[in-house]
Amino acid sequence: MDMEIITVKDKSFKPYISEEDLQASIKNVAIQINADYKGSEPLFLGVLNGSFMFFADLLKSVDLECKVSFVKLASYEGTSTTGKVNELIGLSESIEGRDVIIVEDIVDTGNTLVKLHEILSKGNPKSIKIATLLYKPEAYKKDHPIDYVGLEIPNAFVLGYGLDYDGLGRNLSSIYVLNE
Ligand code: IMP
Repeated sequence: MDMEIITVKDKSFKPYISEEDLQASIKNVAIQINADYKGSEPLFLGVLNGSFMFFADLLKSVDLECKVSFVKLASYEGTSTTGKVNELIGLSESIEGRDVIIVEDIVDTGNTLVKLHEILSKGNPKSIKIATLLYKPEAYKKDHPIDYVGLEIPNAFVLGYGLDYDGLGRNLSSIYVLNE
């Protein structure tokens, strides 16, 4: 495992969360989900791009009958009266009456999570819960509950295991933090 200081583009990052600690926290999330969704057939909805590694490792420890799908939140400028418009792309199946579990890489301000929730609610699912690998409580500005959290971290910029800096670093198997 690479546990050295690394440089990505113009910034330096130091090792922060080991692969071992990540995997242990993911197992813990899977145990909770397995217990909570026994007898249900949930739909795991991975939010691309950042969640791909967490999604894969989490699902390997989920022992429920379940479906998986991926979405992407695209944001574009609307007209001057509507402001920023958010569109969910990739969801081809109906979520009506389903138990949906949103799988995110990190919850920071909570804007993404709240928008996703808003859009998905229109599809009349039975329930929507959120599972995130990382959560920054100091940065969180919403009061929406976050149901499953891998690890809480302070308000710092992290990289690796799906998370990027300017599109790079997603392939690292552990988490690094900006070296300031
Ligand atoms: P939120 O909408 O502010 O909660 O931000 C969520 C999104 O911002 C995540 O899905 C990430 O793509 C990105 N993000 C937030 N914090 C970090 C970080 O520390 N490193 C890399 N990406 C981050």
